[in-house]
Amino acid sequence: MSDAERLHARLVGELASAGCLSPTWREVFAQVPRHLFIPGTVWVEEDGRTSRLNRDESPDAWLEACYDDRPVITQLDDGDGSEQGYWSSSASMPTLVAMMLDALDLEPGMRVLEVGTGTGYNAALLAVRTGAENVTSVEVDAALAGRARTSLKALGLAVTVVTGDGALGHRPSAPYDRILSTAAVQRVPYPWVQQTAAGGGIVTPWGTAFHNGALLRLRVDEDGTASGHFDGNAGFMWLRDQRTPHGAVEDRVLPDHDFTESATELHPYSPLSDFDSSFAIGLRVPAMKSTVVFDGYAPGTGAYTVYLTDPYAGSWASWRIEPGPPPYRVRQHGPRRLFDELTTAHRWWKEAGSPSHTRFGATVTPDEQYVWLDDPAHRVPPPLSEPAGLP
Ligand SMILES: C[S@@+](CC[C@H](N)C(=O)[O-])C[C@H]1O[C@@H](n2cnc3c(N)ncnc32)[C@H](O)[C@@H]1O
Repeated sequence: MSDAERLHARLVGELASAGCLSPTWREVFAQVPRHLFIPGTVWVEEDGRTSRLNRDESPDAWLEACYDDRPVITQLDDGDGSEQGYWSSSASMPTLVAMMLDALDLEPGMRVLEVGTGTGYNAALLAVRTGAENVTSVEVDAALAGRARTSLKALGLAVTVVTGDGALGHRPSAPYDRILSTAAVQRVPYPWVQQTAAGGGIVTPWGTAFHNGALLRLRVDEDGTASGHFDGNAGFMWLRDQRTPHGAVEDRVLPDHDFTESATELHPYSPLSDFDSSFAIGLRVPAMKSTVVFDGYAPGTGAYTVYLTDPYAGSWASWRIEPGPPPYRVRQHGPRRLFDELTTAHRWWKEAGSPSHTRFGATVTPDEQYVWLDDPAHRVPPPLSEPAGLP
């Protein structure tokens, strides 16, 4: 048995023992070696730092990374060549891949559209399960699409890989029984609903600028609408035109900015770190991003500041946490009172009984889309302000 075969078998065994793979999907995962889809140069996240790994320079570490249960970053900054910046493509974490495939409820012979081909690994798993002739995958980046095409072909999997904007779906192969997006959205592109057969399903990571990631599972009805619940933690990179702009705190919080100052008893833990709370807050505070800046090197040992920013309006708030009891100092700048919005949204969530994200759902129609609590008739109240722009 080669090292690759041993590591592949180990990963599949780990996923199965963790309860992530049904016997059917276990069989499928065992047929698709992940390392055949991973490029020679990748990046992995370790202790909060991103490090580069090259197959020729460190073959053992590279192969281990291919079979660890974590994402392997395969492109930075849309492949601008700088080899720096934000993740723009990856082979997703295998646990997450398994969770999303399971949520798809796929049967052999079903026609599937994948949005975000990336390496082609997930497309290969889909192809083994439902038949390669039934799988279409769209990737916005031509170089990535080309590479995935080659990797799929080498395994004899004749998946249709299209270079294009997956937000438009791919009409020539429609209708689909299932659409799976492996890039996150803040709005579900309506062409996905149009191109799914009635009774079919759409699975996509869905989030907000404040909280990137729950899995949304929609069922498409005959009347051209789709509805379904959120379930599961699925942090993903965004569909390209739905990204909230990146940017460092020091570019947004400038020394000559005026601000108002107040004090709060509220600690950031619940609004920021509780998955359900931050998911719900994100529904009410459009385009608000949070960044935590620690004073010292080691997080958790000392003081830190939470920055809330709106990259469009230029508003910001800082929330200073010192060790010891509250109050904590808050400063707010700009037309949006971002901290006040956050506390209002947090109070709304608490007063609603602190619902888990799984009690929320979304409905997509040709004219609008909205999020609800428990039932489509019970819409989440509107956003607390209009941001200057939205992706
Ligand atoms: C997390 S990766 C997908 C992982 C992939 N399924 C795999 O198995 O390797 C997300 C991918 O979505 C692609 N993407 C982003 N926006 C897109 C769009 N509008 N249309 C198609 N692909 C898009 C990115 O280029 C990236 O390759």
